[in-house]
Amino acid sequence: MKKYVAPPYRIKMVEPIRLIPREEREIALKNAGYNPFQLRSEDVYIDLLTDSGTGAMSQYQWAALMTGDESYAGSRSFYKLEEVVKDITGYNYVIPAHQGRGAEQVALPQLVDGKEGMHFISNMHFDTTRAHVEIAGARAIDCVIEECFDTENFHPFKGNFDLVLLEKLINEKTPEKIAGIIMTITNNSAGGQPVSLENLRAVKKIADKYNLTTIIDGARYAENAFFIKEREEGYADKSIKEIAREQFDLADIFLMSAKKDGLSNIGGLIVIKEDEELFTKCRTFIVPLEGFPTYGGLAGRDMEALSVGLVEALDIDYMTHRIEQVRYLGDKLREAGVPIQYPVGGHAVFVDCKKIAPHIPYHQFPAQSVCNAVYLEAGVRPVEIGSFLLGRDPDTGKNIESPMELMRLTIPRRTYTYAHLDVVADACIEVYNNREALVGVDFDYEPQVLRHFTAKLKPVK
Ligand SMILES: Cc1ncc(COP(=O)(O)O)c(C=O)c1O
Repeated sequence: MKKYVAPPYRIKMVEPIRLIPREEREIALKNAGYNPFQLRSEDVYIDLLTDSGTGAMSQYQWAALMTGDESYAGSRSFYKLEEVVKDITGYNYVIPAHQGRGAEQVALPQLVDGKEGMHFISNMHFDTTRAHVEIAGARAIDCVIEECFDTENFHPFKGNFDLVLLEKLINEKTPEKIAGIIMTITNNSAGGQPVSLENLRAVKKIADKYNLTTIIDGARYAENAFFIKEREEGYADKSIKEIAREQFDLADIFLMSAKKDGLSNIGGLIVIKEDEELFTKCRTFIVPLEGFPTYGGLAGRDMEALSVGLVEALDIDYMTHRIEQVRYLGDKLREAGVPIQYPVGGHAVFVDCKKIAPHIPYHQFPAQSVCNAVYLEAGVRPVEIGSFLLGRDPDTGKNIESPMELMRLTIPRRTYTYAHLDVVADACIEVYNNREALVGVDFDYEPQVLRHFTAKLKPVK
């Protein structure tokens, strides 16, 4: 019998959910173009599409919401948020944005600075980050360690940079053509896998050698710090906040989708350590793109909730339960033989669909097919992280083959119980046991940018 880490909270508000009958799920999925992003949430029983903005706020966040200062300029709520963020990061400059991609669209072009042939190098770019790199006229190169692609074997920090490859890439592209090194912590696209402090330190050393800017893409920086506490020698007795600060010390800029470790339903941040010129540029461009620099697309009440959420996410009891809940689902699947990215990362269980459906080629998106089957089985909505998400090569227009075809079962924070996770596990196991019946999907409609959000698909005959 698997032991639970019981939640460090009790529930005092509920949102009803319902499992619609199988025939209705079949119709709903067809109408959604076999793309779970296009499903109505009311047709979903357990929604594991994302952990982004889908968590439950605490009583303290709801209370703070009532105190929001909605002044257009100089809002009191902004100064409160600024103080909290400065305290956590140790950085000098804070600009709110409506969410992570809002921060990206303002900050990344400033680093490219209109120059031709620029590159960003990251352990792995998240999809919106990659999109904004490309919109800014640059190219995104990933450089994660090989072990990351070996889903079966344990490695404590599968999100780590391949340091040899990093230096090789810098020399190959030339340092003048590198707009920045993006440290994605945790590494979402590879399974919410953490990056060690030792690795971040080595990346910083290489960046300093070539005089390059380092950026933390830290939607889940607190989850990353938890894994360091758990797995890296010398950190067991440090607090998540102390470890987080060590992470921030190794970067110049922190971009955050605050919908994750901000424990809020909306929000983003651009935080700059000391580059005043860059801060001035971001402050200028945030106005036409997101809003006045003291609200950046957020209501005063959102900034209040975020100020509280950022602190709550650093609490060890909260974080232990959070990570253990994700692990519980991962362990259940592994015990039943379902191949997953192991060890399980911070925010989700990633199922290895290359292994489940080797008969479906990458351009017919095997993981998308598994996601659809899981929805039909139990009304559970997962998301594809594979060739469907990766899109096309901007130079050749060809489908890029993802090194991994993953189904992400993303766990919203403080939202579902272990009983919900049992339903999810049973559905995945059932689909796994009938895997020969899975068929690929093909496009009915393919949008130009970030196609996985709005594409329409059809099963391949
Ligand atoms: C690592 C990472 N960076 C950036 C983003 C983009 O953030 P948002 O969805 O808030 O725009 C995400 C969202 O999932 C993410 O996981």
